[in-house]
Amino acid sequence: MTRGLFITFEGIDGAGKSTHIARVADLCRARGRVVVLTREPGGTPLSEKLRDMVLHEPMDALTEALLMFAARREHLVQVIEPALARGEVVLCDRFTDATFAYQGGGRGFDWQTLGQLERMVQNLVSLGHGSGHGFSPYPCDAVGSDLALATQEPPLRQPDLTVWFDLDPTISAQRLATARVPDKFESQPVAFFAAVRAAYARRQAQTPGRFARIDAAQSMSVVGEDVVRVLTDWLQAQPA
Ligand code: TYD
Repeated sequence: MTRGLFITFEGIDGAGKSTHIARVADLCRARGRVVVLTREPGGTPLSEKLRDMVLHEPMDALTEALLMFAARREHLVQVIEPALARGEVVLCDRFTDATFAYQGGGRGFDWQTLGQLERMVQNLVSLGHGSGHGFSPYPCDAVGSDLALATQEPPLRQPDLTVWFDLDPTISAQRLATARVPDKFESQPVAFFAAVRAAYARRQAQTPGRFARIDAAQSMSVVGEDVVRVLTDWLQAQPA
């Protein structure tokens, strides 16, 4: 059976990523792959309800981060993990990098706390991948102490590839000005998106091998060509 592939798409609002995801789906299907198109927050009935709340209601920063991860956990368990187990390609419009970028960078929420939530929610053992690694499913259950946590990094579900549509926030602001009614995040000032962009750059610097940066300031057609080239090369390089 072919190996499942988990590809995520990221960028500040107005970077135009959604338009290109459908092309990537076509590209994968043309290679004979079954594709699951999904998004975060969302992707399951419960996660879509959480999306509605988190995008439209004002709330405390920790509440917001917890709801993002709660929606993600449900999405992983119900949709992402089963699809990957069937050998399918999961194309996800945003994932955890968005939480680090928006809640971490944009809202200024503590990066380490987000890291703890990431380890808890994306822990592969807790997602049903056996207990052969010797890790507790939940970091907070780790027998012993913080030392155990510090020395044993649990294996996590992470994207195999993250396509980052990188754009100067002043350009995205011009694009968003003519768009539909903005949600809670889209209505933020340029400084917020500058911080979101910087946080994406920080995530990329932490795991550069996972990221493909696309210059989203280019015209839509050139961005599309870049995406197709990056994806074609990357899919080609994947083991069967
Ligand atoms: P977006 O993906 O841009 O969808 P649409 O194109 O339909 O507007 O909207 C999702 C918003 O949620 C976006 O502003 C970023 C935000 N978000 C977070 O703040 N944290 C997260 O963890 C995720 C996944 C999204």
